[in-house]
Amino acid sequence: MAHQFGGPWTEKKLAVLSKYLRAYMQILKERPFHVAYIDAFAGTGRVESGSPDLSPSDLFDDLSRDDLIGYFDGSARIALTSDPPFQSFIFIERNPSRAEELRSLRDEFPDKASAIRIECGNANDKLRELCAKNWNRHRAVLFLDPYGMQVNWATIEAIAETRAIDLMVLFPSGVAVNRMLPDDFTSIPQAWKDALNRLFGTDEWADRFYGYSSQSDLFNASGELTKQARIQDIAAYYVERMTTVFPAGGVVEEPLALCTPKGRVLYHLCFATANPRAAATACKIVRDIFGKES
Ligand SMILES: C[S@@+](CC[C@H](N)C(=O)[O-])C[C@H]1O[C@@H](n2cnc3c(N)ncnc32)[C@H](O)[C@@H]1O
Repeated sequence: MAHQFGGPWTEKKLAVLSKYLRAYMQILKERPFHVAYIDAFAGTGRVESGSPDLSPSDLFDDLSRDDLIGYFDGSARIALTSDPPFQSFIFIERNPSRAEELRSLRDEFPDKASAIRIECGNANDKLRELCAKNWNRHRAVLFLDPYGMQVNWATIEAIAETRAIDLMVLFPSGVAVNRMLPDDFTSIPQAWKDALNRLFGTDEWADRFYGYSSQSDLFNASGELTKQARIQDIAAYYVERMTTVFPAGGVVEEPLALCTPKGRVLYHLCFATANPRAAATACKIVRDIFGKES
């Protein structure tokens, strides 16, 4: 069974991925590295229209079903059909039945069957194991495509430390983070604060996103902290956080906003390379692709 999620923004996200994979392998095909595609939220490899399997914890319930339609090849299939080809494919998926479906890709792509590795488990755990290996002779593109807040900052740090991986990550700016930041700071539940700390790797987001408005100074003696950040400020802060761990010049400053047909921002697609030598080239390619898609 295909995996059902997404909408027009999904098509855009996958178009960007597809273009980057081709451009990346054009450059890497002549180089003496073993080059892998890693997909840590791999799904099933296929995406159908509709979203019946999304729970409120994945998305919030005020998004109508009309916002959530689409029909696409998923990221795993896009990577398997990309040309020039990758030498190996690592698909990580937490859901056992989706992982089982990924295994059937070996039958569909028999020439690549021995190059496909499927890991059923939590992306953060699996990636930290993978990133801790010796990357001297290896390079990879890593796609992180979670529904929401699943990518821990510790994982981003581990990726940056490889000095070998190019990372494309879907940041849930509108679909989750913005909704976890109510106007009044004191009304944020501790569990949400903990989730935001895990996502950003710090609690400093509170100082960034909240401040004392001039109105609360005038009329409110207690001086309530109120929300100052817009969705684009939230995404900009995540990009800024990435620049603290990735090499200089290795982070694309302007992430790509992914919106519903009515223009509501759901996600920002962010890019960084851990490879200092590739920083300028990789970021230029991604800026060009983002520019054409925005
Ligand atoms: C948006 S879908 C990915 C779609 C896929 N990139 C594609 O284009 O077909 C997110 C997937 O991540 C899986 N998932 C959710 N949390 C996870 C986690 N912590 N570790 C690994 N997979 C996870 C879900 O089961 C789901 O299949």
